Amino acid sequence: MNSENNILLDIRKLRVYYVMSTGSVKAVDDVDLTIKNNEVVALVGESGCGKSTLAYSILRILPYPGEIISGEIIFNGMDLTKMDEEELRKKIRWRNISMIFQGAMNSLNPVMKIKDQLMEAIIYHEDAIEDVDAAYLKAIELIRRVGLDPDRVLNSYPHELSGGMKQRVVIAMSLLLNPRLVIADEPTTALDVTTQANIIDLLKDIQREIGISILLITHDLPVVAEIADRVYVMYAGKIVEYADIYSIFKNPQHPYTEGLINSVPSLVEGKLRKLTIMKGEPPDLINPPKGCRFHPRCPYKMDICEKEEPPPVKLKEGHVANCWLHVKR
Ligand SMILES: Nc1ncnc2c1ncn2[C@@H]1O[C@H](COP(=O)(O)OP(=O)(O)OP(=O)(O)O)[C@@H](O)[C@H]1O
Ligand SMILES: [Mg+2]
Repeated sequence: MNSENNILLDIRKLRVYYVMSTGSVKAVDDVDLTIKNNEVVALVGESGCGKSTLAYSILRILPYPGEIISGEIIFNGMDLTKMDEEELRKKIRWRNISMIFQGAMNSLNPVMKIKDQLMEAIIYHEDAIEDVDAAYLKAIELIRRVGLDPDRVLNSYPHELSGGMKQRVVIAMSLLLNPRLVIADEPTTALDVTTQANIIDLLKDIQREIGISILLITHDLPVVAEIADRVYVMYAGKIVEYADIYSIFKNPQHPYTEGLINSVPSLVEGKLRKLTIMKGEPPDLINPPKGCRFHPRCPYKMDICEKEEPPPVKLKEGHVANCWLHVKR
């Protein structure tokens, strides 16, 4: 850990492409992102903009034909892009960085009781726990920690549990080896609104209680407002803006961030704000637009936006937007 600035994960100039005969999908293209200790960082953006790809690169579990083309992913002083499989398995995955996968609650094994799924995971991962009794105690502790009743849940099959309960089980699994960073990819999608709120509260409680960092990936801006300290906004493989939560919502500086926020219905000063839907679709990432990738959809487009990529502009400490509107020329 870099104790001076308290940074746990430092992603620098990361490029991750899906290399295909028809061309490369530039899913993550020159991305910088940092996560501090005990921090909840949200990564938001429309479907297909590269959020999951970024998450898979951190754990080095990219699906074929994904490749890290360049850049560094520094965790605790180690560059994860340079580690071999054995080191990743022994030092990183699950022990230091765990992941709640997109749709994970639906991938619990339907023919195994929760108890056996948790025990299998515990015994497989934790060298220290060799005997079954110790593993069972750990399973009970984890199930309690996520607010479930161990007697009922451990002896159930997944279909006997509600969506929210299954998602709690998945969260328990991610905490098995006391990781320092949990990556949660859309942890509340497919749940009803009340259950979503409960799951977010749970994540927040756990984060505070055990002092972990969370990278929360979501489309859902209200969820972000509930839990995140800082937000990175991703569009078509690039980070277009990042800031603390307050600045992102109160003072968004990239037209894409503004568009995302305006497409969420919300109560402003007691009135339901008019909902505006952003026009257009995210671009094809094999041949993304030249210049600023957002220019075909941008209401403020200028000539330069079609020609040159906007540089990052620091608006204040910790608030950066990549947009020509902020470049003094
Ligand atoms: N295995 C793959 N082979 C080729 N292209 C892929 C592969 N997986 C993802 N992609 C492409 O990479 C881009 C980024 O996808 P990714 O799944 O990272 O987006 P996302 O932001 O997580 O989207 P969502 O919000 O829908 O989960 C998309 O254009 C997608 O089509
Ligand atoms: Mg995804």
